[in-house]
Parts: sequence; structure tokens; C-alpha cells
Amino acid sequence: MKKIILINGPNLNLLGNRENNIYGNHSLEEIKKQSEEKSAELNLECFFCQSNNEGELINFIHSVEKEYDGLIINPAAFTHTSVALLDALRSISKPKIEIHLSNIYTREEYRKKSITSEGVDGLICGFGSLSYILAIEAINNLIYTK
Ligand code: DQA
Repeated sequence: MKKIILINGPNLNLLGNRENNIYGNHSLEEIKKQSEEKSAELNLECFFCQSNNEGELINFIHSVEKEYDGLIINPAAFTHTSVALLDALRSISKPKIEIHLSNIYTREEYRKKSITSEGVDGLICGFGSLSYILAIEAINNLIYTK
């Protein structure tokens, strides 16, 4: 069975109680459940994690090369600021996808630049919690074709 890691950045633990008009009503726990169900359908084992700490997110990324077949990340606000996360992503040779609930290109100017997406294979954004499901389908495809 192939293994993927789904990494969530800062403030995503508050989903469901945070700017619901932008991020939707689903809690991170609900998105975790949906992601695990979708992964199981595709015969993938999914480790779903979240941290508000940049260093811990970097450590999750570092674990990918040895322990996982693919990575999906919603770096949240670090998307727009973190060269450290970009460098960590660049060090990984496995399939990598960045996701966002919202369409960052239709929002404030400072959200229109994704630093971290320069270190991944592709970006899915704007579909709410469906972004997670679409990314799981895409990573499954990449694992077998990349
Ligand atoms: C987000 C978009 C980011 O700009 C924001 O800082 C987040 C969530 C999203 O999923 O839409 O925290 O990554």
C-alpha cells in the first residue's frame, strides 16, 4: 500500500469557526475523515497532520523522502512568506501538490504570490474541502506516473 502525508499549516485547526464565508463550514476533523475515506478508496494510507509551527511543518516535509510516496500540503499563511518551506519542498523528490481551500488569486494582493508552489508539481485551489479530494486523486495518479 502506498503512503501519503497531508500536511496542514497554521490556523487550519480553526476551520469551521474561522471566516466560514471564505473557508467553508467543514472542520479540519471532517476534512480529515473525508480525506482518509478518499485515500482508502484509492488504496492509499493517509497520514493527516496539522501544525501552527513552521519548524514542525519543515520536519513533516523532511520525513517524506524516507517514509512516504507522496505529499499534499496546505501551507496556509506560510504559502506567502516561507522560503524555508520552499527549500524543504525542493529537497523532496516524491510527488508533491499544494492545495488551498480558497482561490488565492482572487483575494488580497499579498495572497496572490505563492512562494511554496515553486517547490511542488502542481497547485489546486478554490474548491473548498473538495481541493483536498482532488489533490488525493492527483497524487495517486502522480505516484504511478511520475
Ligand atoms: C489558505 C489560503 C491562505 O492565504 C490563508 O492564509 C490560509 C488558508 C486556504 O486554504 O485557502 O490560512 O491556505
